[in-house]
Amino acid sequence: MSKILVTGGTGYIGSHTVVELQQAGYGVVVVDNLSNSNIEVLSGIEKITGIRPAFENIDCTDYVNMDRMFEKYPGIDGVIHFAASKAVGESVEKPLHYYRNNLLSLMNLLQLMPIHKISNLVFSSSCTVYGQPDKLPVTEDAPIKPALSPYGKTKQIGEDIIRDTVFANDFYKAVILRYFNPIGAHPSAHIGELPSGVPNNLLPFVTQTAMGIRKQLQVFGNDYNTPDGSCIRDYIHVVDLARAHVVAVARMLNKENKEPVETFNLGTGRGLSVLEVVHTFEKVNGVKVPYRIADRREGDIEQVWADPSYANEVLGWKAQETVEETLRSAWRWELNLARKREEKK
Ligand code: NAD
Ligand code: WQD
Repeated sequence: MSKILVTGGTGYIGSHTVVELQQAGYGVVVVDNLSNSNIEVLSGIEKITGIRPAFENIDCTDYVNMDRMFEKYPGIDGVIHFAASKAVGESVEKPLHYYRNNLLSLMNLLQLMPIHKISNLVFSSSCTVYGQPDKLPVTEDAPIKPALSPYGKTKQIGEDIIRDTVFANDFYKAVILRYFNPIGAHPSAHIGELPSGVPNNLLPFVTQTAMGIRKQLQVFGNDYNTPDGSCIRDYIHVVDLARAHVVAVARMLNKENKEPVETFNLGTGRGLSVLEVVHTFEKVNGVKVPYRIADRREGDIEQVWADPSYANEVLGWKAQETVEETLRSAWRWELNLARKREEKK
């Protein structure tokens, strides 16, 4: 059984990936410092798969403890590196935290991997590296635009660090995955997204508004150059996204990769506007989402969606879930969170 280290494995995308890895027969070691997640996520994973993954509460920026962790778990075959801070607005306020956390974590891993004879890395990148692309849908060879936030820069620099390191040393192999907008939750509703405080992202704000936790959703702008005036994104079910990681890892373990560093867009190829998301959510779940049109949000991209055909062809992976099921899964998760809050009272 191949063994995979998942950093950030109690986080949103990480936890769904741990489930898919375990269900595909991989052994998993999770490292997370719980800075943006909860230890209870491990129980959610266990409820779904019957297996509680090995867990270490370690900060990936801590080289010495990461080294000890690799000693403790010999025979790791690959690393999927999710651990990072991801709040765009916060990164503008605290740039040093973002550069330190996101880049030092990655550099520590790259330094420790050859010491522990691990050559395979999957890295979480983002469509944010493209900025507002000149051509839509966006392909992997689209120019990288100046990042609009320190967070975005950490993804661009992170990709460069990986490329430079791999090209300098043919020991390494890496797959860089550029996610579009992951939403939804595992169909079991045992795991999902756990935003802390007021959500920045659209879907948690929508579900919390439907639940009555937030009074009203603000739709940031209806005067964009799009059919209904609101921004367009490529929303992808988190389980579809998670499955792509299993394929990417297997590709490297089976030595099927054509280049030492391969980069893939992970999206559906379908753009949806903010208003389409809100109205479809209301329709498929039979709930109201009170909203008002507000000013544009600074730094927002008008429209972006993926051309996923390279991932479809080369990885043999395709996003499967419908937007309706994706939005239903998001609501089931919010309902589950409400039930848990009730139980705790
Ligand atoms: P998340 O915050 O839910 O998960 C990240 C996890 O990493 C958290 O559990 C957090 O506690 C942990 N972590 C952070 N810094 C750490 C450190 N120094 N050491 C150990 N653990 C640490 O975020 P997510 O949405 O699951 O995102 C996972 C990855 O995907 C991140 O790299 C993020 O930048 C990237 N990404 C996310 C999105 C998105 O919209 N969610 C889009 C594109 C890329
Ligand atoms: C989606 C759309 C908003 C909240 C961010 C990061 C990006 C990537 C994904 C990590 C936009 C609108 C939102 C609200 C709204 N993350 N919106 N009201 O901006 O595409 O990307 O997450 O890499 O780097 O920037 O996602 O979910 O914040 O917004 O109208 O209360 O919803 O304007 O059009 P975004 P989002």
